[in-house]
Amino acid sequence: MPEQRILHAGLRERVASAAQAAALIRPGETVAMSGFTGSGYPKAVPQALASHIEAAHARGEAFRINLLTGASTAPELDGALAQVDGLAMRMPFQSDPGARQRINAGALDYLDIHLSHVAQHVWFGFYNQIDTAVVEVAAILEDGALVPTTSVGNNKTWLDLAQRVIIEVNQWQPVELLGMHDIYYGTALPPHRRPIPMVRGDERIGQTTLRCDPDKIAAVVLTDAPDRNSPFNPIDADSQRIAGHLIEFLKHEVARGRLPANLLPLQSGVGNIPNAVLAGLGASGLRDLEAYTEVIQDGMLDLLKSGVLRYASCTGFALSPAANEEFRRNLDFYRSRIVMRTQEISNHPEMVRRLGCIGMNGMIEADLYGNINSTHVMGSSIMNGIGGSGDFARNGFLSIFLSASTAKNGTISSIVPMVSHVDHTEHDVAVIVTEQGLADLRGLSPKQRARAVIAHCAHPDYRDALQDYFDRACRDSYGKHTPHLLPEALSWHQRWLDTGTMQAG
Ligand code: COA
Repeated sequence: MPEQRILHAGLRERVASAAQAAALIRPGETVAMSGFTGSGYPKAVPQALASHIEAAHARGEAFRINLLTGASTAPELDGALAQVDGLAMRMPFQSDPGARQRINAGALDYLDIHLSHVAQHVWFGFYNQIDTAVVEVAAILEDGALVPTTSVGNNKTWLDLAQRVIIEVNQWQPVELLGMHDIYYGTALPPHRRPIPMVRGDERIGQTTLRCDPDKIAAVVLTDAPDRNSPFNPIDADSQRIAGHLIEFLKHEVARGRLPANLLPLQSGVGNIPNAVLAGLGASGLRDLEAYTEVIQDGMLDLLKSGVLRYASCTGFALSPAANEEFRRNLDFYRSRIVMRTQEISNHPEMVRRLGCIGMNGMIEADLYGNINSTHVMGSSIMNGIGGSGDFARNGFLSIFLSASTAKNGTISSIVPMVSHVDHTEHDVAVIVTEQGLADLRGLSPKQRARAVIAHCAHPDYRDALQDYFDRACRDSYGKHTPHLLPEALSWHQRWLDTGTMQAG
């Protein structure tokens, strides 16, 4: 019986249907929900809320909310609310096609925030007060402690700050997750903050459960629904080449004595290229690796299983259905090797710098000088968001960006004269990898960086044009430090918009 997961007597009396719970949320509220990359998000209340909103709109009433989460969620949350035009503001990260369409149509305000900043920005009061928190848990213990599920995200902050709380107890989530989480309650307001008391990525410094004043819990909704994660595509040839270049580089760094034999704690973005890198690491002969990252995806579970990875610290999972099954079957094994933290700690600049993380993230495009655009297509259309990439790029020991050298069937070069939007400046970028090769930008001046990027990362179809731009910029630019031809710098993007290709006729 699902009720058996509610051991707190008072809260068992607050069991309600999703529709009853959703009816507590009023138009204009700021609602903070659990969820991080398709795991641990509430499954029933958002859909019931979407139905309420749809009905209100049918009656001619305005009804939209401001929605905060950990990161991206799933069709049952972002998708359902975007579809009924139920969102006025969304932060800090999303990847839902419907929400993206509304953002890019100018109908939904999107605040794209570094994931480590979100909790403290909310404590600082940079946003409205949180009216309602909707948080998924695996169980409620006798003393009211909440057993977190497959993501932690900002749940601690939401439960602390919300005026009213709705809890979803999801029977699908194994209660055996208890013990995997490390919820640190020691963060404080500046100045004179104490250091985070952790010097190793696998240390535990907090408690295994979330706390919440039971008096604030207005409703408890019982669910039995899986996290929704998609299978990864088979690893393609480009991703394999990118992984090959990167692993060769990391081994070279070990040979040069610039990295220890087991590297430094790895952070990996989500997607097919990072998954290929993780698979490559599994076959690399490297051992005793560590991961201090935000998301655990299939490749990282494989590394844990094979013993190549000693531990992984994260704030959430992004697993394919098959990997999910494996995880659930062997929870005892994974509980001893995985620590799930709040995202303010999983992504904390202090920890990323202290541990010396190796940040490996995807990009939309890079420019000759190593500035990176991770978020905007043609400078104006959001793809997903910056996510945690900035937390690791700025503060890590090595900041690595990965992408195929072309996009959209070769009509777009991922290496451009000037990026059309900047997420990571050249100062935060150490290495760029495409299937063509790897540019190690450390210790190089801007012009040296440009030569390395053109020679090692550009696709042959675009290499000559990039070289031509750079040569003319070196000759004609106003300043010769970071040469640019301003009228031409973004002309490749405009050409694609006008003609459908960045290639000159
Ligand atoms: N110009 C235009 N579109 C481009 C592009 C470019 N230079 N490069 C990639 N794209 C498009 C692709 O065509 C694809 O579009 P589609 O979904 O319409 O087919 C989409 O971007 C995704 O590209 P893909 O090649 O499949 O790579 P990916 O899944 O690895 O995603 C990012 C790449 C940059 C979008 C992704 O890494 C991201 O969102 N990064 C920012 C967040 C982040 O780094 N988080 C890290 C911590 S988890």
